[in-house]
Amino acid sequence: MQYRRLPIEIESPENYGYGNIDCNLSESSFTDQRLADLGIDLSTLLLCYNDHKGKPALREIIAAEANVIAEDALITPGAAAALFIVSTSLLEKGDHILVAKTNYATNIETPRTIGAELSYFKLDFDKNFEPDLQQLENSITPQTKLVSLTYPHNPTGAMIDAETLKKIVEIIERKQTFLLLDETYRDMNFGEDVPVAAGLSEKIISISSMSKSYGLPGIRIGWLICKNKQLMETFLAAKEQIFITNSVVDEEIACQYLVRKQELFTPVKTTIFNNFLIVKSFMRQQNLLEWVEPKGGCVCFPRIKKAIEVDTERFHKTLLEKYSTYVGRGGWFEEGNRYMRIGYSWDKTEKLEKGLSNILKAIEESRIWVKAG
Ligand SMILES: Cc1ncc(COP(=O)(O)O)c(C=O)c1O
Repeated sequence: MQYRRLPIEIESPENYGYGNIDCNLSESSFTDQRLADLGIDLSTLLLCYNDHKGKPALREIIAAEANVIAEDALITPGAAAALFIVSTSLLEKGDHILVAKTNYATNIETPRTIGAELSYFKLDFDKNFEPDLQQLENSITPQTKLVSLTYPHNPTGAMIDAETLKKIVEIIERKQTFLLLDETYRDMNFGEDVPVAAGLSEKIISISSMSKSYGLPGIRIGWLICKNKQLMETFLAAKEQIFITNSVVDEEIACQYLVRKQELFTPVKTTIFNNFLIVKSFMRQQNLLEWVEPKGGCVCFPRIKKAIEVDTERFHKTLLEKYSTYVGRGGWFEEGNRYMRIGYSWDKTEKLEKGLSNILKAIEESRIWVKAG
């Protein structure tokens, strides 16, 4: 496998240095949480190898929400590891994958690194980032080994309803392929509840994580869910060869959090929604940026209006170096740098407001004025 580092990782805020950023709107998760604030007790924890599939009590909780049994859930070190396990288990060099674009970079890069043949299922700003199901169906060929979608979507915040999910499941079953549905942002959906996709068909693998909604990326706990026993055996073999088990410390923290999810997550969700309303009101009051309003998650993907001539390199440089405000530039998602991902629930609300107004200042200072006549 030909690994290469991605811009989103090289330029990540943790690599750039949190101390160098005043307004950090580049993150894609809720504010990182402190262990002491969660009331989690680890004092009696035995530091053993654990069940290779993951802590049984944790799998029970995850499975219950997906309407499957605990045997259908495999705990992994973050959603990133789950994505890696699924791609490397199902794809070989030359195999066809249909993958949504734009996307969280790993969802595209791992199949690419394997040498799979990639086709893109384009999510278009001008079509509100909505999935064209006819196009989805037409793009799946008998050679397609895997379809890869993400909802709620990173970086756009796009979401599908239960009816659309049902239609996607029907397409996948009709076409006899597999669907990887990255549901890492699932708990941050603003609309009606949508079932965990893996509960609906043996052809679906759902992936999720503790990182984004709960602000716990440091414990590296994610999972995959799939009702297909044969696939699960392969996924377990992959996990055992890379990790053997998860960290019991990480699993214990995740488990204690999820047992008290109602109490711990309710205020988080309120904060995320209030921050969304701040961004929504900001977008209404300016005329340099346009967006597709997100329906979930804690990120959005606006772009500088086409009519505005702007030096995008200068814009991002000015924003970061002069205004100490960081956004995820479009290039992190293989899009032009007129686009930017704004994460609206990691930094404090006053930093969000300040950062948003800094974006407008940096655009104004990077405009290219074309002489009339
Ligand atoms: C859509 C999506 N999937 C997976 C991941 C990986 O998350 P984790 O920290 O659980 O590995 C990310 C992280 O940004 C993501 O945005």
